[in-house]
Amino acid sequence: MRQLFRKKSIELIHRDAEAGFSEGEGAGTGKLLKELGALDLTAFGIAAIVGAGIFSTIGNAAFSGGPAVVFLFLFTAIACGFSALCYAEFAARIPVSGSAYTYAYASFGELIAWIIGWDLLMEYAIGNIAVAISWSDYFTGLMAGYGLRIPEYLTMDFVTASRGMERITELLATGASLTELQSRPELFGALEAYRAWTTAPLFGSFHFVCDLPALLITIAITAIVFFGIRESKRASNVLVGLKILVILLVIILGAFFVNPANWQPFAPNGASGVLKGISGVFFAYIGFDAISTTAEECKNPQRDLPRGMIAALVVCTILYAGVALVLTGMVHHSKLQVGDPLAFVFGPAGANMPWLAGVIAISAVIAMTTVLLVFQLGQPRIWMAMSRDGLLPPIFSAIHPKYRTPWFSTILTGLAVAVPAQFMNLTEVTDLTSIGTLFAFVLVSGGVLFLDREQGTGRFQVPYVSGKYLVPGLLAVVAGSVLWTQPDAVRAFFVFDAEWASRIPMAFYLVLALVMGVLSFRKSLSLIPVLGVLTCGYLMTELGATNWFRFGLWLAVGLICYFLYGVRKSKLGILHGLHGPV
Ligand code: ALA
Repeated sequence: MRQLFRKKSIELIHRDAEAGFSEGEGAGTGKLLKELGALDLTAFGIAAIVGAGIFSTIGNAAFSGGPAVVFLFLFTAIACGFSALCYAEFAARIPVSGSAYTYAYASFGELIAWIIGWDLLMEYAIGNIAVAISWSDYFTGLMAGYGLRIPEYLTMDFVTASRGMERITELLATGASLTELQSRPELFGALEAYRAWTTAPLFGSFHFVCDLPALLITIAITAIVFFGIRESKRASNVLVGLKILVILLVIILGAFFVNPANWQPFAPNGASGVLKGISGVFFAYIGFDAISTTAEECKNPQRDLPRGMIAALVVCTILYAGVALVLTGMVHHSKLQVGDPLAFVFGPAGANMPWLAGVIAISAVIAMTTVLLVFQLGQPRIWMAMSRDGLLPPIFSAIHPKYRTPWFSTILTGLAVAVPAQFMNLTEVTDLTSIGTLFAFVLVSGGVLFLDREQGTGRFQVPYVSGKYLVPGLLAVVAGSVLWTQPDAVRAFFVFDAEWASRIPMAFYLVLALVMGVLSFRKSLSLIPVLGVLTCGYLMTELGATNWFRFGLWLAVGLICYFLYGVRKSKLGILHGLHGPV
């Protein structure tokens, strides 16, 4: 049992990374190229962060929260900031590919490292499914703007099409006509799906519906990542520059069209309305941590990784807060429940500048392309690190002799994104990505608290402020104000009714907060990592019980894989003579 929690020392992690994976079937012998500097890393971070979130999911968040959604952006940025500092400390101490997976191996031991490695698939691969789907939506709209209509059955996933068909068929059965339904804006999406289903070619009784743009962009990005980090870097830097320019254009030009009356009231649906946007807003921030997966390809990772991560986060927070304010100032928030809100506010419903709406649509496609690129780069490097440790088969860390990239993992990632994008639903994948990523953030923040301070020689450390009194004090203030302002909700929380299952995440969180409070007091824990655990943990609780259930299921499948393979093949286990040679 103890072997499951055996930690890998930082020295050993470095040694393994230096050696690369040079044994075993299918393994290559090359090492990765050291190409990236601080600016490249910041660009990489922005490339990964600014994407579907700010171009798309912000619309729903602003619709439910109103202008006050800007507070959610700031709160989420702070929560991410705590984790970013922890990521930065780890990245500076352990500058090797693998990100949170490698950090967990050093701080919590093998089992948790496996869980986090498995969990990161939700952030990178599943996150990219969401981005590929959104990319396809924008791309299809853009093409339609140029008069090039792609048939609907080639632009969406199978499930969306069949659900749309069911919904419209039900409505038609009530006696409504198709023309009537077409005049209802809330049914536009369902009608599109219905058309996709009914016009799709039939193979027997199978309706051939697929998301061709999502498939093609995933193949293209996989090819770029396959052919080398230098090419990926160049592509990312150029695209990021364009992306920032367009967002600045939105903020600056949009500011001239702001009508302050739209900011009244600032929080029309109160705190609960704002909190509804958590998944979408958090999704917008995901990505700064992806930089850490390129650690082995940095010229000076210990100095540049922390700088790149924090700089990317700060730039994005400023851009996001600006966009949130301008968006809700230009158009009343009740009109913002659209898939392309940034283009929308410059269309007839807002500033009426069609040329700018077109520019924004193009830049959204560019923005999402860079997100796809960075995530598609990150996933194979995590698998590579897990394979080096023996937790995945050797082929996962095989490096291509010519292109010097983890070729097998890269291709597998391409498949893991392109195939599910053909039948998974956007909201579901966004939620799953958010919960999986928040879990990683909680573990990385917690990991800093468990890290052996003597290990590693990182030049960056999370600034130490004692949490001895501050953490229990803060928790007491928050608990006191909730009790004071919402006594009925608190009482209802402890009633065993039909809704009890939906409160399980919050119950977990309360226990976590209690434990963190006690530990902080007894061990004078460092304040910033504790706040990282508590803020990201809180965001997780707002993501709904169904989401938690799916997430739990995913982790369970991961554990089965670990006990079937990794536990027996772990190199650390073999090193310590726990199992025979592989
Ligand atoms: N933050 C990334 C995006 O918004 C995942 O697309």
